[in-house]
Amino acid sequence: MYRTHSCGELRPSHVDQQVVLAGWVNRRRDHGGVTFLDLRDRSGIVQVVANPEISPGAHAAAEAVRAEWVVQVRGVVRRRPQGMENPALATGEVEVMVDEVQVLNPARTPPFVINEETPVEEMVRLKYRYLDLRRARMRRNLEMRHRVIKYIRDFLDARDFWEVETPILFKTTPEGARDYLVPSRLYPGEFYALPQSPQQLKQLLMVAGVERYFQIARCFRDEDQRGDRQPEFTQLDVEMSFVEREDIMALTEELFTGLVQSLVPEKRLLASPWPRLSYREALERFGKDNPDMRFGLELKDVTDLAPGCGFKVFERVVEGGGHVRGINAKGLAALSRKELDALTAFVADYGAKGLAYLALGEEGGQRSSFAKFVAPERLQAMVARLEGEPGDLLLFVADQPAVVFEALGRLREHLGERLNLKDPDLLAFCWVIDFPFVTWNEEEERWDPSHHLFTAPVLEDVPLLDTDPARARGQQYDMVVNGYEVGGGSIRIHQRELQEKVFSLIGLEREVAQERFGHMLEAFEYGTPPHGGIAPGIDRLCMVLLGEPNIREVIAFPKNQAARDVMAGAPSPVESEQLKELHLKVVT
Ligand code: AMO
Ligand code: AMP
Repeated sequence: MYRTHSCGELRPSHVDQQVVLAGWVNRRRDHGGVTFLDLRDRSGIVQVVANPEISPGAHAAAEAVRAEWVVQVRGVVRRRPQGMENPALATGEVEVMVDEVQVLNPARTPPFVINEETPVEEMVRLKYRYLDLRRARMRRNLEMRHRVIKYIRDFLDARDFWEVETPILFKTTPEGARDYLVPSRLYPGEFYALPQSPQQLKQLLMVAGVERYFQIARCFRDEDQRGDRQPEFTQLDVEMSFVEREDIMALTEELFTGLVQSLVPEKRLLASPWPRLSYREALERFGKDNPDMRFGLELKDVTDLAPGCGFKVFERVVEGGGHVRGINAKGLAALSRKELDALTAFVADYGAKGLAYLALGEEGGQRSSFAKFVAPERLQAMVARLEGEPGDLLLFVADQPAVVFEALGRLREHLGERLNLKDPDLLAFCWVIDFPFVTWNEEEERWDPSHHLFTAPVLEDVPLLDTDPARARGQQYDMVVNGYEVGGGSIRIHQRELQEKVFSLIGLEREVAQERFGHMLEAFEYGTPPHGGIAPGIDRLCMVLLGEPNIREVIAFPKNQAARDVMAGAPSPVESEQLKELHLKVVT
């Protein structure tokens, strides 16, 4: 038997017990002839004492070990002498007086210290991920992720959901990214596609009568990396039959409210039920469709005050169909010229051609890059619209709506950070609904589905698909928390005719649609129940629950920002023999 107890479980109730422990040497210290080892296993750390007067053999062995060696010790639990307790450790009231220390495996000096949370370059952490995962923070993250998935499984099982696995080798299921393809050995020139999500399969499970499905599903998307994206990631994939939007939203809210309360009780939910915003409202108030609702600093529209205001920049933009919107950076009137230039450069990165400012001095004076051109009543009206008070800094962007929203939405996030308004203990969940059903793709001159191909339009808007598609709304919903889109779903199309109409609206030729999605169209003819679902992203959700700044921190073995696995070295070239078998030739 390697051990009788785990390191982290020892308490005063174990005093006088004989124990055998095994783990890693977190730290070794020599004090007045006695050697102390902090012994660590997954459960925590306990202090081990090797005294030469009690056991010279154990002491000699303990003296020889180094950090990260794997050892087994045998000894007796005792209370620490008075004043020597360590309240920072769960086991801090006790220690183990050992009479045997056995080295199970020595270790090379690790490339970074494991026993401290000192910053280490991410490249090194990822290369030695198995060492990085030994650190306390990563252990906490792995455990939380396990608990999240366990909570979800128990919750859904208790509500009659079945977990069904769906294939990884499948056909393209587009969610807007590029596919990862797998060449077929048996069929030269043919490929499987890894699923971007199990979307089609879960709908087919509804046709199959499963009624309530879920899966902790791996998804694969070849797209540009960002802090909240990975090429492979995990969704809680859910689909239900005979439901309306409200049923899915209610279930999701109940699941995640309970999950937060039981797994991260130290966090507060901002509101229950979760607020709902239309897509339009989200853009107008926050500049983005995944708003961080933990703080205000909302955007305000002053477009109507621009015509004839005197400031040519604003006037011209509005004449050209653009908007002028502003944001009140509360209390920042004293920003220096240099800092204002930095903010202008910040919004320039998102396409804004300038950032007009008006700083309202505490004593009633003002500094502004444009006020001198504007009639006083107009300026007054702009200040009033932004609820400007002495000490505030009002910032305006004039441009086409998409640029204004993007620039001010980013600026709002930036200011929220700077003004310390993002309370880390707050979880501000919300729903975004009433998305446009399709959006115009300038480059390819066609309509794109704004969610995915299988989302149903709002029924009363179906006639608009023929006359004015831009005005049709989709039956989709996004789940957002603290500025991240953590889930998306919709009510689906369940009739062949409507599905074909949507395919043709987005420019999929009949034959192409048949070749790619013929199985879906055909299935819809065999008695398909009305259905819908949602897919919360587990990685993003864990990232937010744990307050981590990027998604890699909650994935055991993530890819780096360049989509590489730097530990094993993937992707990597393969043998020419393998290529030949797959009927492939690499052309560079
Ligand atoms: P959607 O494409 O909106 O919907 O994805 C759902 C959720 O998955 C997460 N997500 C990601 N997480 C990490 N890395 C990525 N690259 C990544 N891409 C997406 C997000 C997102 O909200 N089949 C539909 C769902 C449905 O309609 O039921 C779908 O996949 O948290
Ligand atoms: P200019 O007339 O270019 O000197 O600009 C005067 C002020 O207006 C400067 O503060 C610019 O940053 C700002 N500005 C210029 N273009 C825009 C725009 N499109 N939106 C908002 N502010 C602008």
